[in-house]
Amino acid sequence: MAVLDQLTSQQAIDLENKYGAHNYHPLPVVLNRGEGVYVWDVEGKKYYDFLSAYSAVNQGHCHPKIISAMVQQAQTLTLTSRAFYNDMLGKFEKFACEFFNFDKLLPMNTGAEAVETALKLCRKWAYEVKGIDENQAEIIVCENNFHGRTTTIISFSNDPVARKNFGPYTKGFIKIAYNSIEALEEALKNNPNVSGFLVEPIQGEAGVYVPDEGYLTQAKALCEKYNVLFIADEVQTGIARTGELLAVDHEQVKPDILILGKAISGGVYPVSAVLANNAVMNVIKPGNHGSTFGGNPVAAAVAMAALEVIRDENLAENASELGVLFRSELNKYIETSQIVKLVRGKGLLNAIVINDDEESETAWNICMALKENGLLAKPTHGNIIRFAPPLVMTKAQLLDCVQIITNTLKQFEV
Ligand SMILES: Cc1ncc(COP(=O)(O)O)c(C=O)c1O
Repeated sequence: MAVLDQLTSQQAIDLENKYGAHNYHPLPVVLNRGEGVYVWDVEGKKYYDFLSAYSAVNQGHCHPKIISAMVQQAQTLTLTSRAFYNDMLGKFEKFACEFFNFDKLLPMNTGAEAVETALKLCRKWAYEVKGIDENQAEIIVCENNFHGRTTTIISFSNDPVARKNFGPYTKGFIKIAYNSIEALEEALKNNPNVSGFLVEPIQGEAGVYVPDEGYLTQAKALCEKYNVLFIADEVQTGIARTGELLAVDHEQVKPDILILGKAISGGVYPVSAVLANNAVMNVIKPGNHGSTFGGNPVAAAVAMAALEVIRDENLAENASELGVLFRSELNKYIETSQIVKLVRGKGLLNAIVINDDEESETAWNICMALKENGLLAKPTHGNIIRFAPPLVMTKAQLLDCVQIITNTLKQFEV
């Protein structure tokens, strides 16, 4: 089979099943083109993308400005490694530091790598600045977190599917309830070894759990009180998704360490980053950490273009406005619905909770029916369906999507 042979959907699925590890359970749709809020399958059927590659494609598929930055840079210089300087990385670092208001940036490639970077940075700070005894540093994390798939990260997950038979696990983490200031204070007081609090401002993978207003502000204040770093994982919530540039901006909270990934490249290229001020980032010295591809010239060019699109097209404002509209339209439907319990979220990161138990197939079946009706979404956990379209969506398109969603849900009402 030649690379350019046109496959049917079934052929593509069969190939993945036979030759690919079965580490995902995709919806049976095979895409071969994307533009803005739309994707097309290999048979030419058009869909609204209501997942945006887990909030990576915030700027819409194949945004011309981002693609052009990538093509131009790819024809000039792609990779130097950090053994040498390149003329793009510094520009990107300055741009992103000013954009997010931090002193320094450490570039990586994937979200999980950026989380690992933040954990290492926090531990090093703990020993070299806070003065914790060697190997005693502890980091507080939240129940039902999702921060990626590395061995250390799954060590503090409580998802049995992600953890089982991958031990032994990394030590040094304390798990507390999400959205509980009392639990945080309890974990902080009388434990001088705590060096960081790692938190998702909204728990995306867990099912779009939005904490109470004031939670992030109070958590940050507690971190300051106990001299502990507040580490915000904005890999999914960041870059305008929730209606502000960062989800912490809803409460004007400034993290000590900010973790970004996904939409920092508009979903065009793997780019992630950790940002911090000098007092924290300066503990990192040559040889402490790195990545062959981290901060490569293509990544730098793509990320700068992707952030410019967020700013120039006012995507945070659009996400905010469309998010309010989306929830209010769905709430009208839910008033008389038996099948949907509620809609929740911020900006264009939303989820509906299906009125069925977690083990039921209903959410999956609804996603299959949505697919038939021209809209792609995926359950997060059991009975929860996440809705996260590209932020370049128009109001008319959003209302069209609401129609598709509510018409589909009607098929499932008893
Ligand atoms: C909050 C959060 N952190 C980290 C990650 C991991 O990112 P990646 O899949 O790029 O490693 C994700 C991915 O969904 C995420 O949602």
